[in-house]
Amino acid sequence: MQPCSFSVCHGKDCKSRRSKNLLLKLQEELPKWSIEEGECLGECGMGPNVEAEVDGRMRIFNYVKSKDDLPFTE
Ligand code: FES
Repeated sequence: MQPCSFSVCHGKDCKSRRSKNLLLKLQEELPKWSIEEGECLGECGMGPNVEAEVDGRMRIFNYVKSKDDLPFTE
């Protein structure tokens, strides 16, 4: 199952790792998905972090640079 939405952390540490640029890039790469800013995911230091529901479970993906670092495609 693919997620229908996910969030990109905009906490302080992820912001310093360019999470805002990642958010804009993912929105451009995956225009059909709902992609929003989210709160700190508690895995600071491993960002930018993205939270998504995959197969019914919420998962956090670390060090995300593009859609290629996420386990789903458009
Ligand atoms: S700042 Fe992104 S996980 Fe905490």
